[in-house]
Amino acid sequence: MRIIFLGPPGVGKGTQADFIAQSYGIPKLSTGDLLRESVAKETVLGKEAKGYMNRGELVPDTVVIGLVEEKLRSPDCQKGFLLDGFPRTVTQADRLSNYLTSRGEDLDRAVYFSLEKDEIVRRISGRRSCPECKAVYHIESIPPKQEGVCDVCGKSLVQRNDDKPETIESRLAVYQEQTAPLIEYYKAKNILGELDGAGLVSAVQDRLVALLASPRVE
Ligand code: AP5
Repeated sequence: MRIIFLGPPGVGKGTQADFIAQSYGIPKLSTGDLLRESVAKETVLGKEAKGYMNRGELVPDTVVIGLVEEKLRSPDCQKGFLLDGFPRTVTQADRLSNYLTSRGEDLDRAVYFSLEKDEIVRRISGRRSCPECKAVYHIESIPPKQEGVCDVCGKSLVQRNDDKPETIESRLAVYQEQTAPLIEYYKAKNILGELDGAGLVSAVQDRLVALLASPRVE
């Protein structure tokens, strides 16, 4: 199964991605996680990406495409994958399509997560992440057992730099301008499925499993 997750920041893509990757036995590639890892390690790529990410802008296509293609060439991605947060521009989508065609493959599903703006802002503002094991919490909806401490590895939780109020609006604007056109792009390829991202994590998960199990509309 080759799947992409598409949708505004904070809609819950990452929260659902681990479960789906595990259920289908496919690797999850999150470009946000890969880029944050590069920033934390202060690699050349990380140094280039940092400013864009902190401003809520997209990292240049050339940088992200190279990163994803390198990962897709690895043996564990040969039987399928879940891309979380890629593609995010038409250029990225075209490159992915060409790359998969060169391998004689195609995407099976593009899942578009939708959610009202107020709830998106509430989710992003309350997100806390573990810098060590990458577990993600929400201070109200999905709190850790002990405030500020990761349930999984015990590290102190942090707020992402781009989750500050001043950056959220610019991320949403960038999404509308550069990523939202991909909804029509994948609709035209008959692989788009729209997922209502509202409600409990378990309810969204149930809808997502049903969507992925349903036949494509040809
Ligand atoms: P990235 O990390 O991909 O951020 P994003 O797409 O903006 O998505 P988020 O991680 O903000 O949200 P999410 O949808 O995964 O929500 P989550 O599950 O965490 O990208 C960051 C940056 O990297 C970009 O701005 C850009 O600079 C760069 N970048 C990345 N990919 C790129 C690309 N392809 N091209 C160029 N640049 C790129 O949930 C959010 C919160 O809600 C959490 O607190 C969670 O606990 C909570 N939550 C989740 N589900 C529920 C629920 N059902 N009910 C209540 N709370 C919930």
